[in-house]
Amino acid sequence: PPLSSLINLDDFERAFAKSGAQKANAYISGASNDLLTYNANKTFWQKLWFRPRIMRNVSTLNTKMTMFGCDVVMPVWICPMGIAKTAGPEGETALGAGAAASGIVHCMSTTASFGVEDILASAPPTYPFFFQLYVDKQRHKTEAVLQKLEKMDQIKALFITVDLAVVSKREADERIRTQESTSVYMSGEKNKVDKKGGGLARTTGSFIDWALSWEDLAWVRKHSSLAIVVKGIQSAADAKLALQMGCQGIVVSNHGGRALDSAPATILVLLELRRDCPEVFEKMEVHVDGGIRRGSDILKAVCLGARGVGVGRPFQCSVAYDREGVESAAAILQDELETAMRLCGVTDLEKVRGDLSYLNTSELE
Ligand code: FNR
Repeated sequence: PPLSSLINLDDFERAFAKSGAQKANAYISGASNDLLTYNANKTFWQKLWFRPRIMRNVSTLNTKMTMFGCDVVMPVWICPMGIAKTAGPEGETALGAGAAASGIVHCMSTTASFGVEDILASAPPTYPFFFQLYVDKQRHKTEAVLQKLEKMDQIKALFITVDLAVVSKREADERIRTQESTSVYMSGEKNKVDKKGGGLARTTGSFIDWALSWEDLAWVRKHSSLAIVVKGIQSAADAKLALQMGCQGIVVSNHGGRALDSAPATILVLLELRRDCPEVFEKMEVHVDGGIRRGSDILKAVCLGARGVGVGRPFQCSVAYDREGVESAAAILQDELETAMRLCGVTDLEKVRGDLSYLNTSELE
């Protein structure tokens, strides 16, 4: 379908599912086992209601936020997602260019299909990016990546993904057999993967170090001066540990339901953090991803205390329409966010961060 006919983020995923790129769609849309966490991520945002205020002069709005020192037009980052070329030839360069044109940030993946330099070059020379790190079993490879990043001023934060010690079972991905091979950069090296046509995720993820532990953050710190953000926090206990270890931020995430199935919907974890360790919201940046599809979801996440949200699959699917697709998906989110704010009586997003008075959480209690 033409880009102009896609009017919400789900439309991008549906259009991609119908495009005939079966293997790519199984990889992108898929999740673990019975999709329990994948489904919960989405439906739990829908169980959170607003408590709107009226007649507040909503003629002018501020949707801006600062995330790890970067000024953004709205508090959204494009999730790190492996091998974006599976969705379209521009791959991560479409995500980088589209994010820059829209005033949001792209967090590039360790398993991107373009090299870091090419992705950075897709945006204006000083435009910020985040980098997602999987620690390699061969630690010297990760050290080399960190060393390289030190020289790249455009990269403002290091998101270390910790919720995928092993790649999970993605059955849709495993069922589709194909002879096509996909090239992927892993820790900066180009490899041919998936020759046998097995699960794309499992073949690309086998280098991830399952021996990673909290002590290793000190080793990362030794090799990097970037803001350290732990992506994949799923409990208050671990949020507290991240704070103790001196991290600059966390991402409450279950990998979009692609890691442990039956992990809690991310919104439940945010509520747990508010209850058991409210201090983390003030002492570091708390971000969230998983199932965020509407501008109203962004407003809900911010009211719960998030400084930013990640949006994954719809942006990956938007790459099928090149950078225009990415820009269009971002513009839809921006428009929906502004509408939700106006109808909720919120004029300044920054001021309502952590303000539960706009939310009715009774269905989640
Ligand atoms: C991912 N995700 C992911 N996360 C990460 O830290 N490194 C990665 O390389 C990938 N790769 C990846 C590929 C694809 C195709 C998807 C869909 C997801 C997880 C991603 O960053 C994010 O946590 C979820 O996608 C968020 O959920 P939604 O928005 O897709 O529901």
